[in-house]
Amino acid sequence: MRGGWSKTLAVVGAVGLLAVSACGNSDDSSSGGDAAANKDVTVFTWWADGGEKAGLDGLVSVFNTECKDYKFVNSAVAGGAGSNAKQVLANDLQAKKPPSTFQAHAGAELGDYIKNAQVDDVSDLYKEFGLDKAFPQTLLDNLTVDGKIYSVPANVHRANVVWASPAVLKKANIDATKAPASVDAWIADMEKLKQAGVKAPLATSKGFAEEMVMEAVLLAELGPEKFTGLWNGKTDMAGADVTAALEKFKKVLSYANADREAVDWPDALQYVNKGQSGYTLMGDWVAAQQLSDKIPDSAYTYWPAPGTSGDFQFLADSFTLPTGGQDPEGAKCWLKTVGSAEGQKAFNTKKGSIPARSDASPADYPKYQQSAMADWKSKTIVPSCAHGAACTLGQNDSILSAMGQFSSGLDVGTLQKALVAAAKPS
Ligand code: GAL
Repeated sequence: MRGGWSKTLAVVGAVGLLAVSACGNSDDSSSGGDAAANKDVTVFTWWADGGEKAGLDGLVSVFNTECKDYKFVNSAVAGGAGSNAKQVLANDLQAKKPPSTFQAHAGAELGDYIKNAQVDDVSDLYKEFGLDKAFPQTLLDNLTVDGKIYSVPANVHRANVVWASPAVLKKANIDATKAPASVDAWIADMEKLKQAGVKAPLATSKGFAEEMVMEAVLLAELGPEKFTGLWNGKTDMAGADVTAALEKFKKVLSYANADREAVDWPDALQYVNKGQSGYTLMGDWVAAQQLSDKIPDSAYTYWPAPGTSGDFQFLADSFTLPTGGQDPEGAKCWLKTVGSAEGQKAFNTKKGSIPARSDASPADYPKYQQSAMADWKSKTIVPSCAHGAACTLGQNDSILSAMGQFSSGLDVGTLQKALVAAAKPS
């Protein structure tokens, strides 16, 4: 694990993910009202259903045992990748009505909340809960912004995964256990599926899911270093190689379901499970969804997105202590749960992700996570833009609106211009 983090953080450091400057945070533990009168701990996430809710429930079960003075209050807002939750949270924070704690992605996204003075320094809790020993030093170094740490990471997810249906792929005699070697090879397989009568070989969904497909194609075509440079100004987003990759993304989308702008990622996964589509490209919360839907292992396969088998594109969910949040003592107990060995196990065994702690035992985890743990140690680690590791909230807003436009207009020139504007550091 230690080796994995140090590899990750070399890239994280290189893109300056966590190198945002904090300003004006105060550890205002007196705010949030009278703790004795209000023992509710409002936990804001977008983990409202299925495998995501199962993961949250795992954390809640440990919280209920370890934090008996407090009551968990579920403030989840449904919608993949926080598509609805993030706006609700922004409004609540703006109105100075923060929850006790909220979910935020480690990296540039968390940097937004730090810059806006919306989250408190939790470095003292690291010492109090022994997190300074539980997480690898390289992680701690990189979570530290101007000598302070602002969140407790719960997990590591992988973004660049394709989930495939052997039953559908069989229609075109395609071996579902083997990843196509490149984006071109994948396009060729999708064409075969189309010829075999599969109308939408690829199932995808609105906004962030299409963004993930685009990122996977860019990663495959540009390689990990150039890809990472797209989000930190080191790679020219206006370059001809980016144009060529976006043309391939356009081709890939031409094999996707026509209703993609009207559905969310669990719907796209159902298209695969029900035999309507051959593939969906989605983060490994899919493993949790399959578990929760009791889909047998034999009904699907998974592999890294074509052309990215050497890369682990990561994101990490973490929990914060919002400035002026309700019942900060209860929130601290939530953070203790999130960082604990029991909490990370209860959460990650159900969530499809792997623990951020370095002391977890792979044998405690389902088959998928065991393979992810091994890959985390051996692959090149690159950050996800769609899930806030590499990109800020504002950058993602711009990319998502460009993505909506692209999905219907399919104009590569317009998309690339929007990406160039979005990639500029704010
Ligand atoms: C991500 C989040 C994951 C999962 C996913 C789909 O942004 O980090 O934990 O919830 O969205 O909703």
